[in-house]
Amino acid sequence: MAKNKLMKFDEMKSMERVFEPSMAEFIDVDYPLQGNWNKDVFKNNNPIVLELGCGKGEYSVGLGRKYPNKNFVGIDIKGARVWKGAKEANAENLTNVAFLRNVVDFVEHFFAEDEVDEIWLTFSDPQPKKPNKRLSSREFVKRYKKVLKPNGIIHLKTDNTLLYHSTLEEIEEYSYETLVNSNNIYEKDWDSFNKETQDILSIRTHYETLFTKKGFKIKYVAFRVDD
Ligand SMILES: C[S@@+](CC[C@H](N)C(=O)[O-])C[C@H]1O[C@@H](n2cnc3c(N)ncnc32)[C@H](O)[C@@H]1O
Repeated sequence: MAKNKLMKFDEMKSMERVFEPSMAEFIDVDYPLQGNWNKDVFKNNNPIVLELGCGKGEYSVGLGRKYPNKNFVGIDIKGARVWKGAKEANAENLTNVAFLRNVVDFVEHFFAEDEVDEIWLTFSDPQPKKPNKRLSSREFVKRYKKVLKPNGIIHLKTDNTLLYHSTLEEIEEYSYETLVNSNNIYEKDWDSFNKETQDILSIRTHYETLFTKKGFKIKYVAFRVDD
């Protein structure tokens, strides 16, 4: 492994609010933070928002700056990416931002029932050949429902037409409630959003910047999965 990566992984171990649980810590036993994120990590009772497949965590950090009265947890399996977000959050002393390095597939081991208020899926991998691995697929939504509060919201921001349409199909098939839906946020629907939504959607992730430069239109859908 490259020296630079090893240094980042080492540094992450000493960072506050960065968690890298091994399987032994959450499979067959209760993960100690499950149900205790606010008590043990954030030391408040504020709503918890997850960014899943967060990469460098631009939404976790960006929303953390804008909303000091909410708590944010970015989850991704790639350590060097998580390091970047964690470094930024720590440099700014954003005590409402944490990162967890692991796969999203185990989300219900990391959070308790009703512990989470909102979920952001930011530029998730479209998984063209493995629909069940899409982070907005039914398989994953079933996991999210185990941790989301009733009326909890899922936000999907993407450049990818396949992922966007497959998410819309899931919304239709399972009768989720659509709150916002745009297939081109910046060039077509921007003026229809209220100021707060514009402010939130102005946060640009690493992959968003890459795909925007290639000319892809950015899509956004927010929906409720309570049934
Ligand atoms: C295309 S990148 C987007 C990263 C970031 N959200 C952005 O917009 O720049 C997708 C990210 O999702 C992560 N990812 C994909 N599937 C995952 C899973 N099941 N569990 C954890 N991370 C996952 C990848 O490691 C990668 O960092």
